[in-house]
Amino acid sequence: MISTNPFLTLADTVPPFLMQSFVILMGLLILVGTVMDIIHKKNVKYFFNNAKKAKLSATKTLSTGERISVISKTIASDIATTSELGAGKRRVAHVMGMYGTILFWVGSVVMIFFYTSPGSTTPTVWPMIWHIGAALTVLGGSWFWFFLRVDVYSEAQPWFRVIKADLFVLALIASSLFGLIWSYLQSLNLVGRYDDMVFLALFIAANLVLFGGVYWSKFAHMFYKPGAALQKNLAEADGSRDNLPPEADAPEQFGLGIKREEPKHY
Ligand code: HEM
Repeated sequence: MISTNPFLTLADTVPPFLMQSFVILMGLLILVGTVMDIIHKKNVKYFFNNAKKAKLSATKTLSTGERISVISKTIASDIATTSELGAGKRRVAHVMGMYGTILFWVGSVVMIFFYTSPGSTTPTVWPMIWHIGAALTVLGGSWFWFFLRVDVYSEAQPWFRVIKADLFVLALIASSLFGLIWSYLQSLNLVGRYDDMVFLALFIAANLVLFGGVYWSKFAHMFYKPGAALQKNLAEADGSRDNLPPEADAPEQFGLGIKREEPKHY
C-alpha cells in the first residue's frame, strides 16, 4: 500500500481531470476563505498600520545584510521549527503535524497532476511521501488534540469536548486518517465491496470541511504566523520593539513558587 499511488488506482473509475479540478477547487477555497477572513478581521490592515507606527520609534536603520540575516533566522527558527512553541512536546507535536501536512499535500498534488494518466508509472517516493505525511499528521494532530490543547491540558476540560476552535485540527486529522484508510482498503482490492468507496467519500467530505472552513477555522494561521514572526524579529532588531518597553535591567527573580509547577495555566 505504502508504495502504491492511490490516485492512479482511482483513475480506473474517476477521470484524472475530475481529481485535478477538485484540487484546484480546494486551492480556490483557501484563497477565498483567507481573503474573507482578512476583510472581516481587518488583521492585515492593523498589522501594517502597527508596523508603520512602530517604525517611528526605531532606534536604528537596518542595513540590507542585517535584514537578510533577520529574515533567514526567522525562516530557519520561527517558521521551520515553530520556535514560538518553546522546547517541549507542544512544539514536537506541531512540527510533526506541520511537516506531515506539507508532505501529504505536496504528494497529493504531484501524484494527481503528474501520475494519474493511464499507464503512467509513479516513482515509489511519491506514494511513500503521501502515506508517511498522512501518518505524521494523524500522530501530531491527535497528540495535540487529545493531550496538549489548552482547554484539556490546562483547563481540565474532557478530551471529547468539541468547540468551533477545533474545526481546523479535527478536519486536518480526519482528512489524513480517511485518506490512509481509503488507500489501505483500495489496496486490498475487495471485489464487489464498497468499503473503499465509503472512506473515499469521507476523505472528500473531510477535505471539503477543511478547505471550505478556512473562514471559520484556524487554517489561515499558517500564513499569518510567519508574517507576525518576521515583523516581531525586525522590530527587535531595529529597536522599535512594537512600541513595547525595553526588558527590565534586573535579575529574573520570581520567588520559589514558580519552580513548584510547570507553567500551564494560561
Ligand atoms: C502546513 C502548515 C501548518 C499546519 C498544518 C499547522 C497546524 C496546526 C494545528 C493543527 C494547530 C492546532 C490548532 C488548534 O489550536 O486547534 C496549530 C497551532 C499553532 N500553529 Fe500551526 N500549522 C502550520 C503552520 C504554522 C506555522 C508556519 C507557524 C508559525 C510560524 C505555526 C504556529 C502555530 C502556533 C503558535 C500554534 C498554537 C499552538 C498551541 O496552541 O499550542 N503554525 N497549527
